[in-house]
Amino acid sequence: VKAVRIHEHGGRDVLRYEDADAPAMRPGHVRVAVRAIGVNRGDIAHREGAFPVEPPKPFTLGFEFAGEAVELGENVEDFAIGDGVCGQIPYGAYAEEVVAPEAELAKIPAGVDYVEAAAFVVTFCTAWFALVRLGRAQPGESVLVHGGGSGVGTACISLGQQLDVRTIVTAGSDWKLERCRELGASEVISYAKQDFLAEVLRVTDGAGVQLVVEQIGGDVFTRSLQALARPGRIVAVGNTSGQPSTFSTIALLAKEAEIHGLYLDKRQERGETGPALREVAQLWAEGRVRPVVDQVMALEDAADAHRYLEDRSNFGKVILAP
Ligand SMILES: NC(=O)c1ccc[n+]([C@@H]2O[C@H](COP(=O)([O-])OP(=O)(O)OC[C@H]3O[C@@H](n4cnc5c(N)ncnc54)[C@H](OP(=O)(O)O)[C@@H]3O)[C@@H](O)[C@H]2O)c1
Repeated sequence: VKAVRIHEHGGRDVLRYEDADAPAMRPGHVRVAVRAIGVNRGDIAHREGAFPVEPPKPFTLGFEFAGEAVELGENVEDFAIGDGVCGQIPYGAYAEEVVAPEAELAKIPAGVDYVEAAAFVVTFCTAWFALVRLGRAQPGESVLVHGGGSGVGTACISLGQQLDVRTIVTAGSDWKLERCRELGASEVISYAKQDFLAEVLRVTDGAGVQLVVEQIGGDVFTRSLQALARPGRIVAVGNTSGQPSTFSTIALLAKEAEIHGLYLDKRQERGETGPALREVAQLWAEGRVRPVVDQVMALEDAADAHRYLEDRSNFGKVILAP
């Protein structure tokens, strides 16, 4: 099968569109003819060697896919050949075929295409864990979402609306802020032109936010602690800046803060991501949440897709089509 693999870590030039063995079938697994693949910031970290999980090289990049079930392993009960399915795997999705555990799959709702399905999986699982499972967002609470134009940020805006929370989002450019507002963000803050902490305190009348979904790291994390109401929660879902954060534990106790870290791969190992995906997919099937697709590119142009994300040009998801 055609796949995008890496033989060594590095820049975009290490991405190789080449022939690879079709993945081996296993009991409890479904072979999927992949029609669409979601590109994630984590794919870039994986390519660069900055990802905590390291498969033997060469390996095929990619966490999330949507396609058609074409072969069922022993004991598969909930899927049939021909079903439209989407799901996530630790790596291997940048390919014409994947073999995924039945437990990690969801059926694509009626009327939803493969492109939208591939855009849904990681972003909405992340938003679900951040806002619901770990963040325990309650109706009427204020939630600060950094990186409002990212795949994860756009999912948090959409899911936040369904949870009746007030989403306060940051982004680096005016056009992204405009799109965030159209998507349903309650307040938008330009971190490039404004001091986000002062703005959060201003729009909450000094009270701060009950929850922060933090994906940038460095100083943004440190200052987000100061943006918390008392008591407040932070869910750390990423570290896009690559910067470490330093803070005094006094800042934690002063805010009676709870800090949670989310790592989907580990939750996947514990069998938690499939149920989460199917739970949030209920809202999707009812048309109450939808992922944002920026554009579709060919799988062989994966390097262009990575460049587009690295240039911060995307609003929502970039999808690869094999
Ligand atoms: N914990 C998990 O299991 C999990 C799961 C999924 C994703 N994630 C993480 O969540 C984050 C978002 O992923 P994604 O795929 O949705 O991201 P994405 O679509 O690539 O968007 C990332 C955005 O972050 C903003 N940004 C702010 N500061 C930045 C900086 N210093 N460098 C680069 N970008 C910066 C940029 O928008 P502006 O133009 O507004 O600056 C950029 O477009 C990533 O850190 C990813 O690793 C974690």
